[in-house]
Amino acid sequence: AIIWTGANTLKNSTGYNLTQLMVGSEGTLGIVTKIVLKLIPKNTHNVLLLVPFYKAEQACEAVSAIFRAGIIPSALEFMERDAIDWSVTYLDGISVDVKTEHKAHLLIEVDGNYPEILMQEAEKILEVVEQFEIDEVLFADTEDQKNALWKMRRGVAEAVKANSIYKEEDTVVPRFELPKLLKGIKEIGSKYGFQSVCYGHAGDGNLHVNIIKGTMTDSNWKTEVPKGIREIFELTVSLKGTLSGEHGIGLVQKNYMDIAFNKGHLELMERIKAVFDPNNILNPGKIFPDEL
Ligand code: LAC
Ligand code: ZN
Repeated sequence: AIIWTGANTLKNSTGYNLTQLMVGSEGTLGIVTKIVLKLIPKNTHNVLLLVPFYKAEQACEAVSAIFRAGIIPSALEFMERDAIDWSVTYLDGISVDVKTEHKAHLLIEVDGNYPEILMQEAEKILEVVEQFEIDEVLFADTEDQKNALWKMRRGVAEAVKANSIYKEEDTVVPRFELPKLLKGIKEIGSKYGFQSVCYGHAGDGNLHVNIIKGTMTDSNWKTEVPKGIREIFELTVSLKGTLSGEHGIGLVQKNYMDIAFNKGHLELMERIKAVFDPNNILNPGKIFPDEL
């Protein structure tokens, strides 16, 4: 059947919200042929700050402190030292002074249409981050500098992948739990013998965890890492978070779905799949664990 979900209206309370069901279905429920997007006006001004922290967990703590101070940044990105360092090395022509003592950075953007208000917001952000152990804050004041910082942030994923065999997880927790999440990931890494490089959309509580093979043996990579990943997901769920914030489940995360959902919940989702796709032809084999 061809259906049109939602309505071209600001509000809609008519039946089930099949739009969200389709959006989250990873191609397992149907094929989207047409999309109407809601656009918001682009703000005319922005301010971008790069804040180096001497302790990575404090960078995570600062995230919810910024929101508690009444600021809603248009972007709030966290990068561990290696993330920024590898990205700078990987990309040509970008120089950011990353000292060894810097353990993590926050890249913080506020936007709006009134520059004076943005400067006040930036001041307020400074007041908040100065309560933590930080080095000198970089104010990007030219377009070139802003572009360079964003290029560096966007280069992280590729730089990490170019550096080593890796596994990328996409954990998400309520943002005030980020410090506990990061601490736990590092402890789990030590327990199972892997290094991780974390970065991501900290303002959303969304932390990308790249587990690095580095010098790990193949057999430890095969046996120990999955146990570590399971513990990382158990931790995220215990912090009232979940397995993926934006990347989805696909094949790689499907055997961890039991951590986030009980059997009844997974069976309900399987029944939804069967209603939309009785012949199991739409992106089969994804999302659901091998054994239910
Ligand atoms: C990023 C992609 C990997 O945040 O989600 O860079
Ligand atoms: Zn991301």
